[in-house]
Amino acid sequence: MSKMIGILTSGGDSPGLNAAIRGVGKALLGRYDMKVIGFRDGFRGMMENRTQRLDSAALSGILTQGGTILGTSRDKPYAMPVAGKLKDMTEVIVDNYRKHHLDALVCLGGGGTQKNAYHLMKQGLNVITLPKTIDNDVILTDVSFGYDTALGIATEAVDRLHSTAHSHHRILVLELMGNKAGWLALGAGIAGGADVILIPEIPYDVKKVAAAIMRRSHNGQGFSIVAMAEGAISREVAFKLAEIDKNKGSKKKEPKLPIRERIADCRPGNSLQLAQQLEELTGLESRLTILGYLQRGGTPSAGDRLLATRLGTACADLINNGKFGVMVAARGDGVKPVPLKDVVGKRKTVPLDHDWIESARSVHTCFGD
Ligand code: F6P
Repeated sequence: MSKMIGILTSGGDSPGLNAAIRGVGKALLGRYDMKVIGFRDGFRGMMENRTQRLDSAALSGILTQGGTILGTSRDKPYAMPVAGKLKDMTEVIVDNYRKHHLDALVCLGGGGTQKNAYHLMKQGLNVITLPKTIDNDVILTDVSFGYDTALGIATEAVDRLHSTAHSHHRILVLELMGNKAGWLALGAGIAGGADVILIPEIPYDVKKVAAAIMRRSHNGQGFSIVAMAEGAISREVAFKLAEIDKNKGSKKKEPKLPIRERIADCRPGNSLQLAQQLEELTGLESRLTILGYLQRGGTPSAGDRLLATRLGTACADLINNGKFGVMVAARGDGVKPVPLKDVVGKRKTVPLDHDWIESARSVHTCFGD
């Protein structure tokens, strides 16, 4: 009897998800004569037993499509909103796995998805995952699919902002996604030639940013582009957050509000505030652009289609070999299964001595430090 494999996509949508579904699905169907069933909207759909047939017709024509044909959600098996309350729905999900006589479940997603998949693995399910995120913050893989497309879009945004920046002699701040990692802002900032790059890994001093902009202005370059990661924080905020962390273990009674709300200006990626501060400090007109979901929308780049297909087909090979409890990671030109337990709960941030940072400094990019 043919084996039956389930597949779901979870977390934020990302370019390359459909290419990956197609890669896994076509290889399982055509090469290994297995059957494939999709669950709608991530772990929520698996809990609600909402399925979608993934036969060769369904897998055809999706390589170049953005988003995910399966739909997605950020719901977690062990904390799922049900009737207004967070409930542990793990058992229902495990039951549905058994009801469909699944031999394996493929989960496509970022850090949160890896954690959820690991949780199901611990319940005895045969789980295998692929790394997807525009943030590129999943560890133990060189890169995740989605990043290359987002990098291209973000770089084009930096390119296009140059026209207005130099014509109007303005400071243009561009807020980019990336969650708590700076890969997207750093990559796009370097590729697009941003004058200032602010990333969460390097808390910035706004006065140093203003000074760098003024130096450019005195040298006849009356405009500047600031590529700011949404997770970037100033030195003051970094200091306050460190203080809060230090006090967490103490017996002092904690106020009820969540940490970040207690200190109004502790919001990371406070790009509007930064644009205003730079205008005040430099006397130059300043404007803010937030690129938002444009970064993860639309057709995947050639690089992401290639990566997602490589990882997806390798995933099918691993399933055929009975290898579970792993994430299929990209390593150089090849792939490597890495234990899920080594992936969960960790984030790949930009190392401070990373080559990209050194290169950017060599072309006089300011990091505000
Ligand atoms: O993880 C991808 C990402 O786009 C992050 O860069 C961003 O912080 C987050 O998702 C936005 O989440 P949501 O889709 O829930 O608005």
